[in-house]
Amino acid sequence: MSHYFENDRNLKSEFRSISYKYDSFSFEFLSDNGVFSKDKIDYGSKALLESYLKDTKVSEKVLDVGCGYGFIGIVISKINNSYVDMIDVNKRALHLTKKNIDKYEVNARAFESDAYENVSGVYDTIITNPPIRAGKSKVIEILSGAYDYLKDDGKLFFVIRKDQGALSIKKILEEKYFIELIDRDKGFYIFKGVKKNG
Ligand SMILES: C[S@@+](CC[C@H](N)C(=O)[O-])C[C@H]1O[C@@H](n2cnc3c(N)ncnc32)[C@H](O)[C@@H]1O
Repeated sequence: MSHYFENDRNLKSEFRSISYKYDSFSFEFLSDNGVFSKDKIDYGSKALLESYLKDTKVSEKVLDVGCGYGFIGIVISKINNSYVDMIDVNKRALHLTKKNIDKYEVNARAFESDAYENVSGVYDTIITNPPIRAGKSKVIEILSGAYDYLKDDGKLFFVIRKDQGALSIKKILEEKYFIELIDRDKGFYIFKGVKKNG
């Protein structure tokens, strides 16, 4: 069985549309087979996004790691007028993200990158619903590695379920970030880390 983050060219396309509303904004995202949460907005991603929007009401330079079809990054860009880079390893997800960027005419860019492999520059915020199924070491690589791509005092927002090891991951990251649990929703823990300047 292939995982949603693997590229499977033989998987037939069946485009579909996913609705999302925030305040007066309405979105219809293009989705397809072979991407994460292809039929509906993921509950954890929605909780993460909305915690971020509650926290941050200004335009920023943002990196969305593991963007899927682009839900988190595109909404942030539209609502806060932020510049957003979006990365993923799934080519089909990136194709969808590019189509969704064009549809909403946001100031954003999507490109292939395994964690930060193809990322350069630094960001005010890195946000991620990390790929738990890729394994704990990849998740730690993404969360811990964000440090090098954040400005001084930059912020890392992420979501992990309690039963997926949220508290042990928090502990590991505390060496590099001041971490706060900013929301808890149906077992999803939303964390905000502020970079400790070294
Ligand atoms: C939990 S999903 C979140 C998707 C999207 N942000 C959303 O909210 O719907 C994690 C995403 O990370 C991507 N991913 C998996 N391994 C990755 C890696 N090594 N580097 C970057 N992204 C990766 C997956 O393809 C998937 O789209």
